[in-house]
Amino acid sequence: MSHPSTVSGLLTDVRQVGRDARRGGYSRFTYSDADLELREWFVAEASRRSLDVDVDRNGAIWAWRPGPGGSLEDAVVTGSHVDSVPGGGEFDGPLGIASALVAVDHLDASGARLDRPLAVVLFPEEEGARFGQACLGSQLMTGAFDPVAALDLRDVDGVSLAEALRRGGIDPTRLGRDDQALSRIGAFVELHVEQGRGLIDLGQPVAIASSIIGHGLWRLTVSGEGNHAGATAMDHRRDPLVAAAAVIALVRDAAREVPGARATVGRVQPIPGGTNVIASRVDVWVDVRHDDDQVARSLVSTIFDRARRAAALEGCDVTLTEQSYGGSVDFDPTLRDRLAAVLPEAPILRSGAGHDAGVLADVVPTAMLFTRNPTGISHSPEEQIEEADAESGAAALADVLRDLLTL
Ligand code: GLV
Ligand code: MN
Ligand code: MN
Ligand code: MN
Repeated sequence: MSHPSTVSGLLTDVRQVGRDARRGGYSRFTYSDADLELREWFVAEASRRSLDVDVDRNGAIWAWRPGPGGSLEDAVVTGSHVDSVPGGGEFDGPLGIASALVAVDHLDASGARLDRPLAVVLFPEEEGARFGQACLGSQLMTGAFDPVAALDLRDVDGVSLAEALRRGGIDPTRLGRDDQALSRIGAFVELHVEQGRGLIDLGQPVAIASSIIGHGLWRLTVSGEGNHAGATAMDHRRDPLVAAAAVIALVRDAAREVPGARATVGRVQPIPGGTNVIASRVDVWVDVRHDDDQVARSLVSTIFDRARRAAALEGCDVTLTEQSYGGSVDFDPTLRDRLAAVLPEAPILRSGAGHDAGVLADVVPTAMLFTRNPTGISHSPEEQIEEADAESGAAALADVLRDLLTL
């Protein structure tokens, strides 16, 4: 079989995997059947290109074209993720993987000289949608996330990360900072579907990223008194779901008072969650973003103070737990300038979304490319890519890699 050398060709296979009939879009949770199928697909596509595949101690899959003398040091690395948010779009993650594979095809077809090794990497659990920790694979690799804490992570069904890893064929006792993997990366460039309207407004297919906004997830737990919906008089209740309703609105209002801030409640879980039951507890997840980490943290304490006061009016208590935090990131200016020299038409845009590239930027020169999304919508089935833009993105990535691979 001749291998597809277009992004849309590759995504034809990916499109079949992990559709979510109930939510719409795709749910590809890390080490679920859908995720494992896409990991296998990636290995097969890498093997078709004669790339050498290995899986690192944190579950990232690497596909290598070694440099002169079989070297794996000072590699130019590209890649992204294939896991998704619940009911996510088709392209957040897989576009970067498919574009990387197609870029390899472009380099092969043009007989590009590789003075440095080239690798395509697939990071696990970028979204944190299964275990609650965004960019878990890359954070374990850099040491930003503690492997002992990782082993305590469980999904909503109570399945531990260790069990999920074993299902993926990964030994959970080996998680942790991976100096060997890190020392091989000379530069990392991630291509991603754009998650806003920057490229639509500018009329360009491809952008270079300058920075990532700081991004954290907190959990507010509102506790009240579980009781019977029929037998409990209206003024004898301590209903945490009523308090949580006030909390959701005050999160939005508090963020509106802080220029540049974004705060979102996208998930609320009443316990036990019966239709004829006054909940005893409600977990409210609050996603907060700002370029200035101090401002983000101060917004979270404002939210917590106000949440406690709002909950007290309902006779309820609130506790706050930080689930994850990734500070704002400025990508390497030298690498960014180099990309800009290769792609002079590409505008420079900020990223409102988090990425593994943001984690790697702490330890190696890192850059990102965005491909235009004609809806400007992401983390939703509405996310879109035009075929021509997808191929332009992969060609731009190939040009960037060719430049970085030639000394
Ligand atoms: C990543 O997708 C994010 O939530 O920013
Ligand atoms: Mn995402
Ligand atoms: Mn992504
Ligand atoms: Mn993400």
